[in-house]
Amino acid sequence: MSAQRKDDHVRLAIEQHHARSGHNQFDEVSFIHHALAGIDRPEVSLATAFGGIAWPVPVYINAMTGGSVKTGVINRDLAVAARETGVPLASGSMNAYLKDPSCAGTFEVLRTENPDGFVMANINATTSVDNARRAIDLIRADALQIHINTAQETPMPEGDRSFSSWAPQIERIAAAAGIPVIVKEVGNGLSRQSVLRLRDLGAAAADVSGRGGTDFARIENGRRDLADYSFLHGWGQSTAACLLDAQDAGLPLLASGGVRHPLDVARALALGARAVGASAGFLRTLLDGGVPALIAQLTAWLDQLAALQTMLGARTPADLTHCDLLIHGELHSFCADRGVDTRRLAQRSNSFEALHEMTGSTR
Ligand code: FNR
Repeated sequence: MSAQRKDDHVRLAIEQHHARSGHNQFDEVSFIHHALAGIDRPEVSLATAFGGIAWPVPVYINAMTGGSVKTGVINRDLAVAARETGVPLASGSMNAYLKDPSCAGTFEVLRTENPDGFVMANINATTSVDNARRAIDLIRADALQIHINTAQETPMPEGDRSFSSWAPQIERIAAAAGIPVIVKEVGNGLSRQSVLRLRDLGAAAADVSGRGGTDFARIENGRRDLADYSFLHGWGQSTAACLLDAQDAGLPLLASGGVRHPLDVARALALGARAVGASAGFLRTLLDGGVPALIAQLTAWLDQLAALQTMLGARTPADLTHCDLLIHGELHSFCADRGVDTRRLAQRSNSFEALHEMTGSTR
């Protein structure tokens, strides 16, 4: 059952990726172009750091799969691509392994093929502390992702119907894990209130994983005989909206959900994300063109992100948070209703320039 579900998720996520319109709320975020802001490419670094974690690049392959023969092959290929590009990589949910250790190899391959890379384990929020340790140990994980997904479980025929234990369990796991814990959504987004709660529960970072890409409410509804939860399709807040909403919540944010290209990566970084992940898009590249195609895509994304930073005058990914941004359309209304100051975002380079003048920087 579990192995079949993993194969279904891959198939349905790819079908959904093919069917998507191409537009999402990242299109409602644009950089103000400053024609003399550019710097020299050798000055640009892609390194990022947050919550006790340091990565050479601010792009990662987010959680997807494992637990069946087919998805074990996918994990092997993802691990090779991650190894060849230095991109951090997350496992799919390891609860399949915790229930049935015979599928351990489909996850272990993430580490055996990528012995020196940054690898994240992934579990749900009902996992015991002992099982969380088993998942971490299996792949010698550098960080642990805990996924929270009420809008996926609700239409899932075999899904959870009790959610109140999740927060206290996250707190227990975070206290005992011994490595940074990143709590993530799966495509419906994290509100400011959710991020504040996660900060208090001891998470090292929150991956907002918002609306705009893979839609698990739709995927699970497609697995129901009557498909009678179609009203949940598109539930939640977009990734850009989440970053704006939770920017001052005091917890490092990661961005995923509908990230399509390097400009979306730069937009998410400029909205305050410390790193930016993608899942279905990278999976589609892998399934269409194999490992060489995914390596080429990851390499191109990093190269083009560095090119954008050069044009925008951002020596580091964090410097992008000083670029002026315009927020349009529905996202602008969202900001107004949630009390996010869009005028400050559109004029923030003024104070950055003043700071550089004061400190004598040549920028
Ligand atoms: C996922 N995602 C996911 N997340 C998680 O925490 N544990 C998991 O097991 C899975 N499984 C999974 C399977 C497949 C096939 C996909 C495409 C995705 C969710 C993923 O990590 C991410 O949060 C969302 O997919 C949003 O990103 P994209 O796909 O829009 O880039």
